[in-house]
Amino acid sequence: MRKSRNTPSRFFILSIILLFQFIRCAVIIDSDYNVSSDDDPVTEASPRKRNCTRQPAIIDKLLNGTGYNKFRIPNDDGVPVQVEFWVQAITSINEITNDFEMDIYINEMWLDPALKFEHLNPCKQNLSVSHQVLERLWTPNSCFINSKFAEIHDSPFKNVFLMIYPNGTVWVNYRVNVKGPCDLSLELFPLDIQECHLIYESFNYNNQEVRMRWNEKSPEPVSVTNKIRLPDFELIKIEPTRVSAPYPAGMWDELHVKLVFERRYIWYFMQAYLPTYLTIFISWISFSLGTKAMPARTMLGVNALLAMIFQFGNIMRNLPRVSYVKAIDVWMLVSMTFIFLSLLELAIVGYKTKNEEGAKKKCPHKKLIDNFEASPAGLCRYEKRFMLPVERRSARWGGIMRFQILQDFWNWSPEKIDRVSAILFPACFAIFNIVYWSYYYNKKLEKAAAMKLNEDRL
Ligand SMILES: *[C@@H]1O[C@H](CO)[C@@H](O)[C@H](O)[C@H]1NC(C)=O
Ligand SMILES: *[C@@H]1O[C@H](CO)[C@@H](O)[C@H](O)[C@H]1NC(C)=O
Ligand SMILES: *[C@@H]1O[C@H](CO)[C@@H](O)[C@H](O)[C@H]1NC(C)=O
Ligand SMILES: *[C@@H]1O[C@H](CO)[C@@H](O)[C@H](O)[C@H]1NC(C)=O
Ligand SMILES: *[C@@H]1O[C@H](CO)[C@@H](O)[C@H](O)[C@H]1NC(C)=O
Repeated sequence: MRKSRNTPSRFFILSIILLFQFIRCAVIIDSDYNVSSDDDPVTEASPRKRNCTRQPAIIDKLLNGTGYNKFRIPNDDGVPVQVEFWVQAITSINEITNDFEMDIYINEMWLDPALKFEHLNPCKQNLSVSHQVLERLWTPNSCFINSKFAEIHDSPFKNVFLMIYPNGTVWVNYRVNVKGPCDLSLELFPLDIQECHLIYESFNYNNQEVRMRWNEKSPEPVSVTNKIRLPDFELIKIEPTRVSAPYPAGMWDELHVKLVFERRYIWYFMQAYLPTYLTIFISWISFSLGTKAMPARTMLGVNALLAMIFQFGNIMRNLPRVSYVKAIDVWMLVSMTFIFLSLLELAIVGYKTKNEEGAKKKCPHKKLIDNFEASPAGLCRYEKRFMLPVERRSARWGGIMRFQILQDFWNWSPEKIDRVSAILFPACFAIFNIVYWSYYYNKKLEKAAAMKLNEDRL
């Protein structure tokens, strides 16, 4: 009897426990989640949160069975897309292939009202989801239209960050490696300033559908995350602009970013200019070796010329074959001319020395050489072949002073030629230096002014 009386109460307790369990299960199912296995466990201390909707559930609720179509433009009046670039690194600028390479973060932000989830009581305000979800969302399909190469980094997984705000704003961030064109003009090389540019636009949608804009809230829509220093260039300016470009299918919003680089010419100074200075100085030693040391002087001159040609070739090897004259070409060619002229001077001195010696042997009366009129016909014919008597020339050209001067030059002794060269060559070289550096430095300043750069940055 006792047993039979006890049974209903036991059953009652059991059913209450079962019911309680059932309610708990129902609450768990309602929140679409196994609470204990979630990465953000809901504690008993915050019962209000237990009712909230979790991230995957929100995604499912937004995208499954709601008629969300990734091919439909979110707003019929056009979607404004805010773009911002963060330049992480510029890895190279290549003169030969005329391009540059960099790693950047591309940020895009647009409002997709269909993704609004404020009303779903989200557990987290901002949803950050993986790139797989991005494939199911509408995107502006933007790309670099002038890049030679562009790729989203995908090691160890695709470097895409996607965040959805409760009000439906989508923020996408890609880490991209992009190689873009530069229009290198090497006229001022190595004092040059170069420009490279990239154009970012929506590939599919014209500006009626997608309005691309540099992020208006940000003071610098294209910013660098840390200072960029390449081995031989320095980034001195970034200029973002927006252009409406006409295409056969309508007007497109193009976002242009221009990067201005200044060459760091110290390397070229050390590798090209300094050695040429030394080579030229060495070629002047020849003037002080005297007229007797012909073999030594020839060796100096020829070695200097060879050294110069070798240096020139070395520098040219890393530059494209352009059909205009670069600053370094002018430098190298004029330096070579200086060495060539010192060899020419050597030839004249050598010739005159040999003549003098020959004349001493052939014409024992030295006076006769100095005075042509007095020299009897047939004597010292060798000289006469090259030196016409003054009267005859003057008669032919009406006594132009020039020839008198030339005559005087020709009558200079080899020692005098050496002495004059030892002053004339350095003086001419100094003048050339002043003209060269001031001309090219001014050109550089002009170019900087044309690019609206701050001069103090140069
Ligand atoms: C929920 O978590 C418990 C324990 O953490 C586990 O035993 C159970 O299988 C999980 N349920 C689901 C549906 O994942
Ligand atoms: C949980 O949500 C339901 C409906 O969505 C609501 O009726 C209930 O009051 C909520 N519970 C709490 C604790 O907020
Ligand atoms: C939602 O849709 C995706 C693909 O469209 C599917 O893989 C997924 O299982 C769906 N989820 C639910 C809860 O229906
Ligand atoms: C969500 O994003 C906004 C804007 O970026 C930020 O101010 C806010 O703190 C974020 N909220 C959470 C919970 O992360
Ligand atoms: C949506 O929310 C984000 C982050 O809180 C905010 O920056 C943005 O202005 C909001 N957009 C609209 C249209 O309210």
